[in-house]
Amino acid sequence: MTPHSHPSLPASTATPPIDVVIMAAGRGVRMKSKLPKVLHRLAGRPLVQHVADTATALSARHVVVVTGHGADLVESCITLSAGTNGLTTPVMPSAPSSLHFVRQEPQLGTGHAVQQAVPVLPDDGVVLVLSGDVPLTQPDTLSRLIALCEGHQLALLTIDMADPTGYGRIIRLGDRVRAIVEHKDASVAQLAITEVYSGIMAVPVRLLKGWLARLDNHNAQGEYYLTDIVKLAVADAATVVAHKISDALQVAGVNSPVQLAELERAFQHRIALQLMESGVRLADPARLDVRGHLRCGTDVSIDVNCVFEGQVDLASNVSVGAHCVIKNARIAADAVIHPFTHIEGGMGNDIVDIGAGSFIGPFARLRPGAKLGEQVHIGNFVEVKNSSLAAGAKANHLAYLGDATVGERVNYGAGSITANYDGAFKHRTVIEADVHIGSNCVLVAPLVVGAGGTVGGGSTLTKDTPANALTVARARQVSINNWKRPHK
Ligand code: UD1
Ligand code: MG
Repeated sequence: MTPHSHPSLPASTATPPIDVVIMAAGRGVRMKSKLPKVLHRLAGRPLVQHVADTATALSARHVVVVTGHGADLVESCITLSAGTNGLTTPVMPSAPSSLHFVRQEPQLGTGHAVQQAVPVLPDDGVVLVLSGDVPLTQPDTLSRLIALCEGHQLALLTIDMADPTGYGRIIRLGDRVRAIVEHKDASVAQLAITEVYSGIMAVPVRLLKGWLARLDNHNAQGEYYLTDIVKLAVADAATVVAHKISDALQVAGVNSPVQLAELERAFQHRIALQLMESGVRLADPARLDVRGHLRCGTDVSIDVNCVFEGQVDLASNVSVGAHCVIKNARIAADAVIHPFTHIEGGMGNDIVDIGAGSFIGPFARLRPGAKLGEQVHIGNFVEVKNSSLAAGAKANHLAYLGDATVGERVNYGAGSITANYDGAFKHRTVIEADVHIGSNCVLVAPLVVGAGGTVGGGSTLTKDTPANALTVARARQVSINNWKRPHK
């Protein structure tokens, strides 16, 4: 393709800054939901957040989100600090992007949407137009599109579709792109064209501004079509290039719950492939859900139907049984998480830590702030919240540890609980090293159980206990010989 420079805009060798416009004002009627379409979640994050993350990965200078339907809510849900979408790393590190919101009310079409962003766009940039409901475009695809634009051409991302119904068709004369014709405006001959516009373009801002100012709404939908800038570019003798890709997933939009679920599975499949390529053994790549970031060491194995949320780190040789839900956790080497375990760590210090060689579950529940040392055993129906258990501590059956500090090698009996809440305040329980707590004990906090002590089963402790002592706090056992039961 011969570059065909616009007379008023000489080609420059310096790479212009990238500004991104994300169109997110539409209603999304087919979602049949009160939630604006772009806030529906894919892999745990709003659709539009994926797009914003892609912009971040491209080191965009300005990210301008055009909002309309549900604008307040949409604007409150987007950040540029969430990092990338878990599959991509920034193409090039740079200064953080700045986020802007512009309102489009009423919504008069995609051209009108981009017109609202114009005041925020400096003249020296190249603008990349994205849609808030197309979440899986890869940053490297977009970098290539931007590079093709060479700072002075209009570059369109296109794709061949077996069924192009509803899409704008790419009209070519020879090799040259001449126009995009919307489905509803297309002639029978044009409807047969299978190359369609993806909704994504890169264009120098100075040219874009001129073309946007000349759009009209004389078409089948009475809308200002962004796609009409192609024929204006052609009229101005500017070069229009098309970057045709074959991966339909990258340009797939979400319009309905069915499409959302399809993209979710496709996204999860990509994550599963990446994990397996890095050596993780997945019992079934189709039965895995990562809704955040999952980092794995060597020889990690994950059984079916596990869900990972937030930031989860699995060190080498960790094995995760079937049906586990694990959120915000760091699991050290050789730990075994048995089936049906629910780990729900919080942010920052509330992350759940599991020490090397620990055994957790089945049916264990670790809540925010659970900190387990090495070789800790947490068995079935045991709940741990905001508590630390030092190396070798065990709570194997039916127990609750809340706001507790548990020393090394403590054995915490079946059915025992910390009574940590007095109705107004939480209090701490300290169980020092080598303590043996019998079954069915109630430890009424605040309380310290002295090191090496033993607590008899069924005790309700309300006071500290001395080290190395046997403490029993329950009614003494009484037997009455030859007891006669009442008779009728
Ligand atoms: C658009 C393209 C079409 C392309 C298709 C790809 C136009 C005129 N047509 O059609 O060539 O094949 O995308 O998916 O651009 N939006 C606003 N404000 C508006 C209208 C839309 O913010 O006034 C947003 C929507 O929320 C959506 C995006 O722009 O995120 C695209 O709008 P949509 O109505 O889906 O465009 P299509 O008709 O699909
Ligand atoms: Mg439309």
